[in-house]
Amino acid sequence: MHLNHISDTPGPIGIFDSGYGGLTVFKEIVRQLPQYDYLYLGDNARVPYGIRSFDTVYRYTLECVTHMFEMGCHLVILACNTASAKALRTIQERDTPKLPIIYKTLGVIRPTTELVGKVTRSGHIGILATTGTVASQSYIIEIKKFFPDVQVFQEACPMWVPLVENNEFGSEGADYFVQKHLHNLLSQSPDIDTLVLGCTHYPLLIHKLMQFLPPHITLLSQGEIVADRLADYLQRHTEIEVLCSKNGQHTFYTTESVEDFNQKAGIYYGKTVSCRHLAL
Ligand code: DGL
Repeated sequence: MHLNHISDTPGPIGIFDSGYGGLTVFKEIVRQLPQYDYLYLGDNARVPYGIRSFDTVYRYTLECVTHMFEMGCHLVILACNTASAKALRTIQERDTPKLPIIYKTLGVIRPTTELVGKVTRSGHIGILATTGTVASQSYIIEIKKFFPDVQVFQEACPMWVPLVENNEFGSEGADYFVQKHLHNLLSQSPDIDTLVLGCTHYPLLIHKLMQFLPPHITLLSQGEIVADRLADYLQRHTEIEVLCSKNGQHTFYTTESVEDFNQKAGIYYGKTVSCRHLAL
């Protein structure tokens, strides 16, 4: 990782996703921690990440995170499970430690896996995620560390991100793919009582999911979980907290069309946004 611009003045907290999904996490973070400045970047030009190789997801994520550091962020949240599964560890262990001042990245998988074993009563958990996240086995590995007795079942849902990105999450077409993947997952164990939405795009499908899910199943989405953990992290890491500026300002960037982003982001974020273009 090479930064053209390095500064130790405080900057916004970065929130990164391959597209719009990270806005579902961002919304909760802002609700809990409104005092900070934030910079959101959606790599809409290259979404979806979920079908791409380890190397490609790492390369794309590193490129975006590098831009966010250069734009003043010292802390970037990968609000994307696929990037958290495939790029976070390498960036944390190999790239950021070489930089002369503090630059940090945090992901969304760890906070979720620390909690999920406390929610299940049966000890059987289902993970709905992208093909890349499922193949990485990150959820299985992380949950084992915290809750060795919990059994984890997974289902990759490759059509769900395209449905969400194309604003088709409420359509009849979405019914087929939602039912298909829920059925595939739940038929792996009749005892599954907790499902994790292991992709930040999936909360947009929550109404469809509730429609087809048996009522005894708890659905966990990550926004609140990640926001809680970030609040706790900033309290414990004052050396990073002082590098986060506090004017309550929000800046949005996309690598694709600004008009599209402005039009669609409100669906995820709950407010209209005015974003800027980042050329990669
Ligand atoms: N929202 C992302 C995630 O949480 C990525 C979806 C994608 O780009 O495939 O995995």
